[in-house]
Amino acid sequence: MKILILFSSRHGQTRKISYYISRILQKKVECCTQNIESACDINCLQYDRILIGASVYYGHFHPSFEQFIKKNANILNQVISGFFSVNLVARKPEKRTPETNPYTRKLLLKSLWKPDCCAVFSGALRYPDYNFWDRFMIKLIMHITQGETDSRKPFIEYTDWTQVSSFANKFLNFHKL
Ligand SMILES: Cc1cc2nc3c(=O)[nH]c(=O)nc-3n(C[C@H](O)[C@H](O)[C@H](O)COP(=O)(O)O)c2cc1C
Repeated sequence: MKILILFSSRHGQTRKISYYISRILQKKVECCTQNIESACDINCLQYDRILIGASVYYGHFHPSFEQFIKKNANILNQVISGFFSVNLVARKPEKRTPETNPYTRKLLLKSLWKPDCCAVFSGALRYPDYNFWDRFMIKLIMHITQGETDSRKPFIEYTDWTQVSSFANKFLNFHKL
């Protein structure tokens, strides 16, 4: 079995999650991991399963991710496919399912692509990597939502790696009826 994992990541957390899943899958099957921005010419039909992860900024997924799933919806629906979104609203457990996470729910409702397996993971904060405006805005959002606002902390990770592992196994073992 050949699996492709594509990720859309700006500051590396979705990429980190993708490689983590890839290491789990590689114990059992062949698995390649690639940035979605360099995958516009990829032949999706050469894979048995495709998993795509994308992060949220200012309420939106990256346009390159949205373009990719729009262009490849037909093919993605033919293979076994999965989707995971990464954002910080999901650090609240009640917002960490595809039905309760607003960005994921909205995307799945409007998309022609209907992934077989979906998950929502909580992401991370890397304050030193952000520009002035982004740092200001995310600190404000964190303040309003009672999150971490100390931007001297270089890395604050909210990702639940046990959740990621169990999703990786669920995706690997999924069978269409
Ligand atoms: C400027 C900025 C805007 C963000 N906007 C949102 C948002 O609207 N909703 C949300 O839940 N998370 C938001 N996040 C959190 C990111 O989704 C989170 O940091 C995620 O881990 C980023 O993943 P990536 O490093 O793979 O891009 C934002 C983060 C930054 C820095």
